[in-house]
Amino acid sequence: MTSESAAHTPALADDFLPGPVLLLGAPGVGKGTQAQSLMADYRIPQISTGDILRDNIARGTELGKAAKGLMDQGQLVPDEIVNDMVGARLTQPDVEHGYILDGYPRTLGQAEWLDAHLSSTAVERPGGEVLPLVAINIRVDEQELLRRITGRRICPVCKHIYNIYSKPPKREGVCDFDGSQLQHRSDDTEAAFTERMKAYNSLTAPVIEHYCRQGRFRDVDGDQPVEQVTAAIESALKELRQAGA
Ligand code: AP5
Repeated sequence: MTSESAAHTPALADDFLPGPVLLLGAPGVGKGTQAQSLMADYRIPQISTGDILRDNIARGTELGKAAKGLMDQGQLVPDEIVNDMVGARLTQPDVEHGYILDGYPRTLGQAEWLDAHLSSTAVERPGGEVLPLVAINIRVDEQELLRRITGRRICPVCKHIYNIYSKPPKREGVCDFDGSQLQHRSDDTEAAFTERMKAYNSLTAPVIEHYCRQGRFRDVDGDQPVEQVTAAIESALKELRQAGA
Protein backbone atom coordinates (compact mmCIF):
# COMPACT_ATOMS: atom_id res chain seq x y z
CA MET A 1 0.00 0.00 0.00
CA THR A 2 1.41 3.40 -0.94
CA SER A 3 1.35 6.35 1.44
CA GLU A 4 -1.30 7.84 -0.89
CA SER A 5 -3.66 4.90 -0.66
CA ALA A 6 -3.06 4.60 3.10
CA ALA A 7 -4.25 8.18 3.50
CA HIS A 8 -7.41 7.58 1.49
CA THR A 9 -10.42 6.08 3.26
CA PRO A 10 -12.89 5.13 0.54
CA ALA A 11 -15.01 2.80 2.68
CA LEU A 12 -18.20 4.79 3.15
CA ALA A 13 -21.27 3.83 5.12
CA ASP A 14 -23.86 2.32 2.80
CA ASP A 15 -26.44 4.79 4.01
CA PHE A 16 -24.30 7.83 3.18
CA LEU A 17 -26.02 9.71 0.38
CA PRO A 18 -23.71 12.34 -1.09
CA GLY A 19 -26.54 14.12 -2.93
CA PRO A 20 -25.66 16.85 -5.41
CA VAL A 21 -22.01 17.93 -5.15
CA LEU A 22 -20.29 20.81 -6.92
CA LEU A 23 -16.55 20.65 -7.51
CA LEU A 24 -15.20 24.16 -8.01
CA GLY A 25 -11.68 25.38 -8.70
CA ALA A 26 -9.35 26.81 -11.31
CA PRO A 27 -8.29 25.00 -14.53
CA GLY A 28 -6.12 22.00 -13.69
CA VAL A 29 -6.82 22.05 -9.97
CA GLY A 30 -7.90 18.39 -10.07
CA LYS A 31 -11.71 18.52 -10.43
CA GLY A 32 -11.84 15.74 -13.04
CA THR A 33 -9.37 13.55 -11.15
CA GLN A 34 -11.35 13.93 -7.92
CA ALA A 35 -14.68 13.41 -9.68
CA GLN A 36 -13.40 10.04 -10.97
CA SER A 37 -12.50 8.97 -7.41
CA LEU A 38 -15.80 10.18 -5.92
CA MET A 39 -17.75 8.44 -8.68
CA ALA A 40 -16.07 5.15 -7.84
CA ASP A 41 -16.48 5.58 -4.06
CA TYR A 42 -20.09 6.80 -4.04
CA ARG A 43 -21.35 5.19 -7.27
CA ILE A 44 -22.88 8.43 -8.51
CA PRO A 45 -22.21 9.98 -11.95
CA GLN A 46 -19.84 12.78 -12.85
CA ILE A 47 -21.37 15.52 -14.98
CA SER A 48 -18.51 17.40 -16.64
CA THR A 49 -19.57 20.18 -19.01
CA GLY A 50 -16.02 20.17 -20.46
CA ASP A 51 -16.30 16.43 -21.25
CA ILE A 52 -19.78 16.83 -22.79
CA LEU A 53 -18.49 19.67 -24.98
CA ARG A 54 -15.37 17.70 -26.03
CA ASP A 55 -17.58 14.72 -26.86
CA ASN A 56 -19.67 16.98 -29.12
CA ILE A 57 -16.49 18.24 -30.80
CA ALA A 58 -15.29 14.66 -31.38
CA ARG A 59 -18.68 13.74 -32.91
CA GLY A 60 -18.70 16.87 -35.11
CA THR A 61 -22.10 18.08 -33.87
CA GLU A 62 -23.32 21.66 -34.44
CA LEU A 63 -22.85 22.30 -30.72
CA GLY A 64 -19.27 20.99 -30.92
CA LYS A 65 -18.51 23.18 -33.96
CA ALA A 66 -19.84 26.25 -32.12
CA ALA A 67 -17.83 25.45 -28.96
CA LYS A 68 -14.44 24.38 -30.39
CA GLY A 69 -13.03 27.81 -31.26
CA LEU A 70 -14.05 29.28 -27.91
CA MET A 71 -12.58 26.36 -25.96
CA ASP A 72 -9.27 26.39 -27.86
CA GLN A 73 -8.92 30.09 -27.03
CA GLY A 74 -9.69 29.46 -23.35
CA GLN A 75 -12.99 31.32 -23.45
CA LEU A 76 -16.28 30.20 -21.94
CA VAL A 77 -19.11 28.75 -24.00
CA PRO A 78 -22.37 30.80 -23.68
CA ASP A 79 -24.50 30.12 -20.59
CA GLU A 80 -27.64 29.08 -22.53
CA ILE A 81 -25.73 26.25 -24.25
CA VAL A 82 -24.25 24.77 -21.07
CA ASN A 83 -27.43 25.29 -19.02
CA ASP A 84 -29.41 23.33 -21.61
CA MET A 85 -26.76 20.57 -21.62
CA VAL A 86 -26.87 20.26 -17.83
CA GLY A 87 -30.67 20.46 -17.73
CA ALA A 88 -30.90 17.57 -20.20
CA ARG A 89 -28.32 15.51 -18.28
CA LEU A 90 -30.18 15.99 -14.98
CA THR A 91 -33.25 14.26 -16.43
CA GLN A 92 -31.33 10.94 -16.62
CA PRO A 93 -32.34 8.36 -13.96
CA ASP A 94 -28.77 7.78 -12.69
CA VAL A 95 -28.76 11.12 -10.80
CA GLU A 96 -31.36 9.87 -8.33
CA HIS A 97 -28.91 9.47 -5.39
CA GLY A 98 -26.67 12.35 -6.30
CA TYR A 99 -24.12 13.50 -8.84
CA ILE A 100 -20.90 15.43 -9.13
CA LEU A 101 -20.95 18.61 -11.18
CA ASP A 102 -17.44 19.20 -12.51
CA GLY A 103 -16.70 22.52 -14.23
CA TYR A 104 -20.27 23.81 -13.87
CA PRO A 105 -21.52 26.37 -12.89
CA ARG A 106 -18.74 28.81 -13.82
CA THR A 107 -20.65 32.08 -14.18
CA LEU A 108 -23.12 33.70 -11.80
CA GLY A 109 -25.77 33.33 -14.52
CA GLN A 110 -25.18 29.54 -14.58
CA ALA A 111 -25.27 29.37 -10.75
CA GLU A 112 -28.59 31.23 -10.61
CA TRP A 113 -30.02 29.02 -13.36
CA LEU A 114 -28.90 25.90 -11.44
CA ASP A 115 -30.32 27.12 -8.11
CA ALA A 116 -33.69 27.70 -9.78
CA HIS A 117 -33.54 24.39 -11.69
CA LEU A 118 -32.74 22.35 -8.55
CA SER A 119 -35.98 23.33 -6.89
CA SER A 120 -37.70 21.10 -9.46
CA THR A 121 -35.18 18.21 -9.55
CA ALA A 122 -34.36 17.27 -5.96
CA VAL A 123 -32.28 14.42 -4.52
CA GLU A 124 -34.09 13.06 -1.46
CA ARG A 125 -33.18 10.90 1.56
CA PRO A 126 -35.45 7.82 1.97
CA GLY A 127 -37.78 9.76 4.34
CA GLY A 128 -38.32 12.44 1.71
CA GLU A 129 -35.89 15.02 3.11
CA VAL A 130 -34.33 17.01 0.25
CA LEU A 131 -30.52 17.07 0.07
CA PRO A 132 -29.39 20.54 -0.99
CA LEU A 133 -26.40 21.21 -3.20
CA VAL A 134 -23.03 21.32 -1.39
CA ALA A 135 -19.96 22.98 -2.92
CA ILE A 136 -16.30 21.98 -2.56
CA ASN A 137 -13.70 24.44 -3.76
CA ILE A 138 -10.26 22.93 -4.51
CA ARG A 139 -7.35 25.35 -4.18
CA VAL A 140 -3.87 25.05 -5.77
CA ASP A 141 -1.15 27.62 -6.42
CA GLU A 142 -1.15 29.02 -10.01
CA GLN A 143 2.44 27.94 -10.83
CA GLU A 144 1.55 24.33 -9.98
CA LEU A 145 -1.63 24.61 -12.11
CA LEU A 146 0.40 25.41 -15.23
CA ARG A 147 2.62 22.38 -14.61
CA ARG A 148 -0.44 20.16 -14.17
CA ILE A 149 -2.11 21.49 -17.33
CA THR A 150 0.91 21.17 -19.60
CA GLY A 151 1.74 17.70 -18.20
CA ARG A 152 -1.79 16.31 -18.51
CA ARG A 153 -2.53 13.41 -20.88
CA ILE A 154 -5.95 11.79 -21.27
CA CYS A 155 -7.12 8.43 -22.57
CA PRO A 156 -9.67 9.17 -25.32
CA VAL A 157 -11.44 5.86 -24.67
CA CYS A 158 -11.75 5.37 -20.87
CA LYS A 159 -11.08 9.07 -20.07
CA HIS A 160 -8.51 8.18 -17.41
CA ILE A 161 -6.40 11.25 -16.54
CA TYR A 162 -2.59 10.99 -16.40
CA ASN A 163 0.23 13.45 -15.84
CA ILE A 164 3.72 13.04 -17.28
CA TYR A 165 5.21 14.50 -14.05
CA SER A 166 3.00 13.25 -11.23
CA LYS A 167 1.10 10.27 -12.66
CA PRO A 168 2.77 8.87 -15.77
CA PRO A 169 1.36 5.78 -17.52
CA LYS A 170 3.42 2.58 -17.19
CA ARG A 171 4.31 2.79 -20.91
CA GLU A 172 4.95 6.28 -22.28
CA GLY A 173 1.96 7.68 -24.20
CA VAL A 174 -0.20 4.56 -23.72
CA CYS A 175 -3.22 4.06 -21.42
CA ASP A 176 -2.59 1.46 -18.67
CA PHE A 177 -6.17 0.21 -18.89
CA ASP A 178 -7.01 -0.16 -22.58
CA GLY A 179 -3.75 0.45 -24.49
CA SER A 180 -5.10 3.56 -26.30
CA GLN A 181 -2.76 6.32 -27.40
CA LEU A 182 -2.96 9.13 -24.83
CA GLN A 183 -3.96 12.61 -25.98
CA HIS A 184 -2.94 16.15 -25.05
CA ARG A 185 -5.94 18.52 -24.92
CA SER A 186 -5.80 21.30 -27.53
CA ASP A 187 -6.47 23.92 -24.82
CA ASP A 188 -3.67 22.64 -22.57
CA THR A 189 -1.15 25.18 -23.86
CA GLU A 190 0.43 27.98 -21.84
CA ALA A 191 -1.39 30.62 -23.98
CA ALA A 192 -4.83 29.03 -23.56
CA PHE A 193 -4.14 28.48 -19.86
CA THR A 194 -3.52 32.24 -19.43
CA GLU A 195 -6.90 32.98 -21.04
CA ARG A 196 -8.64 30.28 -18.99
CA MET A 197 -7.24 31.81 -15.79
CA LYS A 198 -8.52 35.25 -16.86
CA ALA A 199 -12.01 33.80 -17.44
CA TYR A 200 -11.76 31.98 -14.12
CA ASN A 201 -10.73 35.07 -12.13
CA SER A 202 -13.31 37.39 -13.67
CA LEU A 203 -16.33 35.08 -14.17
CA THR A 204 -15.93 32.00 -11.95
CA ALA A 205 -14.46 33.49 -8.75
CA PRO A 206 -17.84 35.23 -8.03
CA VAL A 207 -19.51 31.80 -8.24
CA ILE A 208 -17.34 30.67 -5.32
CA GLU A 209 -18.51 33.71 -3.30
CA HIS A 210 -22.10 32.85 -4.25
CA TYR A 211 -21.88 29.33 -2.77
CA CYS A 212 -19.77 30.49 0.19
CA ARG A 213 -22.59 32.88 1.14
CA GLN A 214 -25.10 29.99 1.03
CA GLY A 215 -23.06 28.29 3.81
CA ARG A 216 -22.97 24.75 2.35
CA PHE A 217 -19.38 25.19 1.22
CA ARG A 218 -15.84 23.98 2.07
CA ASP A 219 -12.37 24.85 0.80
CA VAL A 220 -10.00 21.90 0.28
CA ASP A 221 -6.22 22.07 -0.18
CA GLY A 222 -5.55 20.49 -3.60
CA ASP A 223 -1.79 20.73 -3.29
CA GLN A 224 -1.30 17.29 -1.78
CA PRO A 225 -1.31 13.76 -3.20
CA VAL A 226 -4.48 12.83 -5.10
CA GLU A 227 -5.73 10.34 -2.52
CA GLN A 228 -5.27 12.79 0.35
CA VAL A 229 -7.32 15.36 -1.56
CA THR A 230 -10.05 12.72 -2.04
CA ALA A 231 -10.01 11.92 1.68
CA ALA A 232 -10.28 15.64 2.53
CA ILE A 233 -13.24 16.08 0.14
CA GLU A 234 -15.05 13.02 1.49
CA SER A 235 -14.56 14.18 5.04
CA ALA A 236 -15.84 17.68 4.14
CA LEU A 237 -18.93 16.13 2.49
CA LYS A 238 -19.73 14.07 5.58
CA GLU A 239 -19.31 17.09 7.84
CA LEU A 240 -21.58 19.19 5.63
CA ARG A 241 -24.30 16.52 5.50
CA GLN A 242 -24.03 15.85 9.27
CA ALA A 243 -24.38 19.58 9.86
CA GLY A 244 -27.76 19.38 8.12
CA ALA A 245 -26.81 20.38 4.62
P1 AP5 B 1 -13.06 21.94 -18.45
O1 AP5 B 1 -12.85 20.68 -19.16
O2 AP5 B 1 -14.07 22.02 -17.38
O3 AP5 B 1 -11.64 22.46 -17.96
P2 AP5 B 1 -11.17 23.24 -16.64
O4 AP5 B 1 -12.23 23.70 -15.71
O5 AP5 B 1 -10.27 24.26 -17.16
O6 AP5 B 1 -10.57 22.16 -15.82
P3 AP5 B 1 -9.59 21.08 -16.32
O7 AP5 B 1 -10.37 19.93 -16.95
O8 AP5 B 1 -8.55 21.70 -17.16
O9 AP5 B 1 -8.88 20.63 -14.99
P4 AP5 B 1 -9.34 19.78 -13.75
O10 AP5 B 1 -9.56 20.67 -12.60
O11 AP5 B 1 -10.46 18.84 -14.11
O12 AP5 B 1 -8.00 18.98 -13.51
P5 AP5 B 1 -7.61 17.43 -13.77
O13 AP5 B 1 -8.27 16.56 -12.76
O14 AP5 B 1 -7.76 17.06 -15.19
O15 AP5 B 1 -13.42 23.11 -19.50
C1 AP5 B 1 -12.71 23.25 -20.72
C2 AP5 B 1 -13.36 24.35 -21.53
O16 AP5 B 1 -14.72 23.98 -21.84
C3 AP5 B 1 -13.49 25.72 -20.84
O17 AP5 B 1 -12.30 26.50 -20.97
C4 AP5 B 1 -14.68 26.33 -21.58
O18 AP5 B 1 -14.30 26.80 -22.85
C5 AP5 B 1 -15.59 25.12 -21.78
N1 AP5 B 1 -16.52 24.93 -20.65
C6 AP5 B 1 -16.57 23.85 -19.82
N2 AP5 B 1 -17.53 24.01 -18.90
C7 AP5 B 1 -18.08 25.22 -19.16
C8 AP5 B 1 -19.13 25.96 -18.50
N3 AP5 B 1 -19.76 25.48 -17.41
N4 AP5 B 1 -19.43 27.18 -19.01
C9 AP5 B 1 -18.82 27.66 -20.11
N5 AP5 B 1 -17.82 27.04 -20.77
C10 AP5 B 1 -17.46 25.80 -20.28
O19 AP5 B 1 -6.06 17.50 -13.37
C11 AP5 B 1 -5.14 18.23 -14.14
C12 AP5 B 1 -3.79 17.50 -14.16
O20 AP5 B 1 -3.25 17.52 -12.83
C13 AP5 B 1 -3.88 16.02 -14.56
O21 AP5 B 1 -2.77 15.68 -15.34
C14 AP5 B 1 -3.85 15.26 -13.22
O22 AP5 B 1 -3.25 13.98 -13.34
C15 AP5 B 1 -3.01 16.19 -12.36
N6 AP5 B 1 -3.39 16.17 -10.95
C16 AP5 B 1 -4.66 16.17 -10.46
N7 AP5 B 1 -4.63 16.17 -9.10
C17 AP5 B 1 -3.32 16.18 -8.75
C18 AP5 B 1 -2.64 16.18 -7.49
N8 AP5 B 1 -3.32 16.19 -6.33
N9 AP5 B 1 -1.29 16.21 -7.50
C19 AP5 B 1 -0.58 16.22 -8.67
N10 AP5 B 1 -1.16 16.19 -9.90
C20 AP5 B 1 -2.53 16.18 -9.93
